[in-house]
Amino acid sequence: MLTKNYQHSKKLVDKYLSRPLKLRRGRLFGVVTDILKKRSAILKVSHKYPTPFYLFDRRGLQTSIKEFKTVFGQHIPRLNIFYAVKSNPHPYVLKEVIKGGLGLDVSSGRELQLAIKNGVKKMIFTGPGKTDAELALAIKHRQKLIINLDSFTELRRLGQMLRRQKKTMRAGVRVYLSSQSNWNKFGIAVSDLSKFFSAAKKYPEIKLEGIQCHMSWNKTVTAYENLIKEIATQVKTLSAEDRAQIKFIDFGGGFETYNQEGYFPWTLTSGEIIKEATEHFGQTAQFKDKYYLSESIPLKDYAVAIGRAIFKYLDPWIKLNYYCEPGRIISNPAMHLVLKVMDIKRPGMAILDGGTNMIGYELFEYFYYPTVNLTRPSKKEIAYRFYGSLCTPYDLFGYYCYARGIKEGDIIIIPNQGAYTYTLAQNFIKDIPATYIFS
Ligand SMILES: Cc1ncc(COP(=O)(O)O)c(C=O)c1O
Repeated sequence: MLTKNYQHSKKLVDKYLSRPLKLRRGRLFGVVTDILKKRSAILKVSHKYPTPFYLFDRRGLQTSIKEFKTVFGQHIPRLNIFYAVKSNPHPYVLKEVIKGGLGLDVSSGRELQLAIKNGVKKMIFTGPGKTDAELALAIKHRQKLIINLDSFTELRRLGQMLRRQKKTMRAGVRVYLSSQSNWNKFGIAVSDLSKFFSAAKKYPEIKLEGIQCHMSWNKTVTAYENLIKEIATQVKTLSAEDRAQIKFIDFGGGFETYNQEGYFPWTLTSGEIIKEATEHFGQTAQFKDKYYLSESIPLKDYAVAIGRAIFKYLDPWIKLNYYCEPGRIISNPAMHLVLKVMDIKRPGMAILDGGTNMIGYELFEYFYYPTVNLTRPSKKEIAYRFYGSLCTPYDLFGYYCYARGIKEGDIIIIPNQGAYTYTLAQNFIKDIPATYIFS
């Protein structure tokens, strides 16, 4: 573990651990009041069908689609929205998104086929390491699809396939920025854009007409401002002929949900060390704060900043279409997790009837989401540990619940779990539960 320049590393660690942290304290009561408005309708579903289940919230999804379209449409010119299928590919979600007028952003042959099956009208295909079968599928559906090429190799492979089939298709190229070194598994360096346009000339079958870049988990607008600025700088270096080919810039997804989640003190480095150390000595770590609220900004702040950057760096000299690929911000309100209290093991601890195979990983050990006892709701949050029914200790649903108490048979809901949970669910020990609709 000791590095050669140990003293230097130790100094950095000490400095890192003692840096001031911006900790947001508070409650996410809005989530609770919103779900309680739907209480009787949800309880009805829970009496009709066996728990656990995913509850598809059509109105919740419709609202998020409408809000995104309105807010981004107000601030960003010539906008095309492609919902990121990976965040939740359930047919109910895809059908509603398509009905709402959005395109789909697919990342694999599987997602592409799902998109087709659910009636997609336009899509963008982005992802590294596309197989021959996936390229062939993209070619087959080329009338509805733009493919974002991930490398020079992919350019050659697609170009050769199209030539053999005597076909042409539209494409973009994915880039990563100089500030994005940890994302460089995706796309080409933005500084290689000019080289890429030159290489593409060998394949007139490929209509290279766009530039794409995506970064996830953007809690501020900086990533988007850098993206627009760096791409604009590089586009200026292209020849007039190459520049004239460009029709769109796709600034990806990565918009965080606002005031929806928190995190536990042990997700901070210092908290993790305290927890590890106390548990090592057989004790339970105690923390002053229950949880902190995650940093995030309202949707409008993203739209305003992106719009401003476009009007500052690009729009005055080049008129382009703008594409984006929002995932979680759209699908998060589309699903809730509904479970039942099976077994009260001791005061303050119960087993629910579903397992965290419903969400695919140990999300709730680190991240806080308000949990509500729909049978016995309260404005007060009590400390209560919910475990799942999988035969593994890594099966926790949460540490707190808005409840007047917990009794066997109570219906527990974890609202707004539509993004990256259903899509990561696995048949581990138990089957992936069914999805029901309520209205
Ligand atoms: C290429 C691409 N676009 C869009 C998204 C959607 O991101 P988010 O759900 O954070 O909006 C992802 C997510 O990983 C992605 O890889």
